[in-house]
Amino acid sequence: MIKIKALNKIYNVGQKNEFVALRNINFEVLPNTVVVLKGVSGSGKSTLLSIIGGMNKPTSGEVIVEDKYIAKLPDLHLSNFRASSIGFVFQSFHLINDLSVFDNISIPLIPLGLSAKEIEEKVNYAMQICNIAHKSMEISKNLSGGEKQRVAIARALVNNPNIILLDEPTANLDSANSKNLVEILSNLKKLGKTIVISTHDSLFDELDFVEKIIYIKDGDISG
Ligand SMILES: Nc1ncnc2c1ncn2[C@@H]1O[C@H](COP(=O)(O)OP(=O)(O)OP(=O)(O)O)[C@@H](O)[C@H]1O
Ligand SMILES: [Mg+2]
Repeated sequence: MIKIKALNKIYNVGQKNEFVALRNINFEVLPNTVVVLKGVSGSGKSTLLSIIGGMNKPTSGEVIVEDKYIAKLPDLHLSNFRASSIGFVFQSFHLINDLSVFDNISIPLIPLGLSAKEIEEKVNYAMQICNIAHKSMEISKNLSGGEKQRVAIARALVNNPNIILLDEPTANLDSANSKNLVEILSNLKKLGKTIVISTHDSLFDELDFVEKIIYIKDGDISG
């Protein structure tokens, strides 16, 4: 489902502040598995996740997602790839504060030209999976952190992508909300999704549905 080969990412190439963020990274994520990328702050987790999601380009190496060489895709194809294949959950949620929960979740559907009824069905389904339907009409800025997180996940799901990428999903959650998140992730796996989570939270160390933990340190994969 996801293959990374000899991936390097260097920021500020050729400048004084050139910085190697990822060094010769190789790994594979099989379909319908959950993989955790674990490392301290600055180790390169977000960089790697954003490259898998087609939001950031590697300096060299191959990134093959659903059989597409995404580092080589032209921009238009890349945005189509992102819209259809990837659901990305940002650490800071990136919701539009003044829009309702329903409207935030429906945003990825706008370019598809669906009918109002189709949009409603898809948003309702995503809200139900994320246990946020009771807040459908609430303005997003009034939500708790855990609720915002669930809206962000519902928005990532609404297009029914095969792959869900979550960047530090528990960073802003208390332990009760973190447990809710784990349950949502477990359900997403049952729905057949392929999931990659970046984290430094030990909560993910011993979950039975996590196939693999990849340790990343200073841009290197070890262990
Ligand atoms: N656009 C950029 N330009 C220059 N350096 C960058 C850029 N983005 C990230 N970096 C550097 O690359 C390294 C890895 O950053 P990254 O955001 O991937 O780390 P992270 O593991 O996600 O950290 P955190 O746990 O704090 O989110 C850091 O040292 C960071 O300063
Ligand atoms: Mg990060």
